[in-house]
Amino acid sequence: MPDQPCTDDYVERAQSFVDAFTDHAIFRVSTAGVVESWSAGSERIKGYRADEIIGKPFSLLYPEEDREAGIPERNLETAARFGHFEENGWRVRKDGSRFRAHVAIAPVRNARKEIVGFAKITRDVSAKHELEAVVKTLATSQQVFEAQKLELMGRLTGGVAHDFNNILAAILSSLEFITCTLPDGQLRPVVQSGIAAALRGRKLVSQLLAFARNDSLAPQPTDLNDFVAELRPLIEQAIGRSASVTLELGASACWVKVDQVHLQSAILNIIMNAKAVTPEGGRIAIRTFNHDVRSRAGLATGQDETPMSALEIQDFGCGMSEEVRARSIEPFFTTKPVGQGNGLGLSQVHGFTKQSGGDLEIDSEVGKGTTVRLLLPACSDRETGQEGGFRATSILIVEDDEELLEISASILSFWGYSVRSALDASQALDIIEGTGQLDLLFTDIVIPGKVDGLELARRATKLKPDLKILLTSGYATAETLAKLSPAERRSFLQKPYRLEALYRGLRRALDGMDVREASPFALE
Ligand SMILES: Nc1ncnc2c1ncn2[C@@H]1O[C@H](COP(=O)(O)OP(=O)(O)OP(=O)(O)O)[C@@H](O)[C@H]1O
Ligand SMILES: [Mg+2]
Repeated sequence: MPDQPCTDDYVERAQSFVDAFTDHAIFRVSTAGVVESWSAGSERIKGYRADEIIGKPFSLLYPEEDREAGIPERNLETAARFGHFEENGWRVRKDGSRFRAHVAIAPVRNARKEIVGFAKITRDVSAKHELEAVVKTLATSQQVFEAQKLELMGRLTGGVAHDFNNILAAILSSLEFITCTLPDGQLRPVVQSGIAAALRGRKLVSQLLAFARNDSLAPQPTDLNDFVAELRPLIEQAIGRSASVTLELGASACWVKVDQVHLQSAILNIIMNAKAVTPEGGRIAIRTFNHDVRSRAGLATGQDETPMSALEIQDFGCGMSEEVRARSIEPFFTTKPVGQGNGLGLSQVHGFTKQSGGDLEIDSEVGKGTTVRLLLPACSDRETGQEGGFRATSILIVEDDEELLEISASILSFWGYSVRSALDASQALDIIEGTGQLDLLFTDIVIPGKVDGLELARRATKLKPDLKILLTSGYATAETLAKLSPAERRSFLQKPYRLEALYRGLRRALDGMDVREASPFALE
């Protein structure tokens, strides 16, 4: 485009064009940051007349603390370097009042592409800013209201459940007394169904008490990884054949201090909900990890330094609408048909997590699925009983002779090791895959099944490269022994072994120590 001649008429027309934007402050600033032009909108928004501001530093329009921090100059530098600067920030009017502004700055160049000044456009967005602040406050008060509602419901249900528990106890003991004294006959089944109903009532009451956080808990240090791995058979039984479960356990131990009975029912409650929405052949995932709470938004103040361990259960079912998700932890809230749900599952999970000092998060999207996340305060090393970072060395014993397995396990436990045991390679591999913390595999070479102890050891070190190995055998042939690598031969223990030899073998495998003196723990 050819350069326009800068006639008075042209300048006047350009100015009236800019003045037409009365809700925008449009003005020019020199490279030194001095105001060079001023539109009608600038006067309306900032309060200065053109003759009051032209020739003055544009930094006058910034709050004092920004001026002192050199922000006006820095904004011009950014615009010069990147060709554009944009922000939402505070600006000051002539009368000293502040307003929220949306500001854009662009460099103005001459025909030789040199920067000769800056064009600034400022819009007063105070109304939008205030609206956002109001919406935020409303959302916070809605959260406070929900929390108060749950608190009140908790107190109410807690009180009722307590009294109800005593009544149920009286009913149960009377019915049990009647069955003991009743001769076998027609009346017995009637009384027994009364007992069964009272027991169902007791279960409901215990869920109510858990919601009301009135339940007495017996917290103990628990590694979520081990806990979930050990609960796997029960979880699979609960899910049945229609769906599968996958475990993704954290690489390091996830120690928390919780009541294990309540944790188990919380997991099963979530699993039952997941099962109900998982189609035939679907999958449910269970994950554990150590969670950096600082990365979470919406944190209660004062909690931000608490390290948490997380247990997450994800399904890929129908998901929940926002309304259902928000109400899902209320006691007796259910969308299930009459007789199929009491609406107490998630309220137990919520009550238990809160009472354990943790938090419950539920992410759900209609058509995509649901993730329920228990965040539990991580235990300190002291609480895990492993002061100074010490934890019991954990050993997996693989031995097909059940009696020997039991004896070896009790000896190793007596020596202070944490012991898991397996009868064959497939059981052992399940444990190795599902356990975060495992230091040593102690396996017989000759074990039933397709995979022998040697192959098991090799597969295990592929899965866990730091895993130490101790091999043993009473029947290993010269041919088998010849297959051992020099390192494997060094960690081989001939059966039958004396306890001292076992102790030496363990120490050698675990920390390369050659213990010559007798073990101080020897049972012999
Ligand atoms: N994984 C999920 N997917 C979809 N909806 C869910 C899921 N978990 C919970 N809900 C919704 O939240 C409601 C409340 O769940 P909650 O476990 O508290 O009670 P319930 O399953 O209905 O009954 P109960 O657990 O006492 O047998 C459910 O009725 C369901 O609408
Ligand atoms: Mg449920």
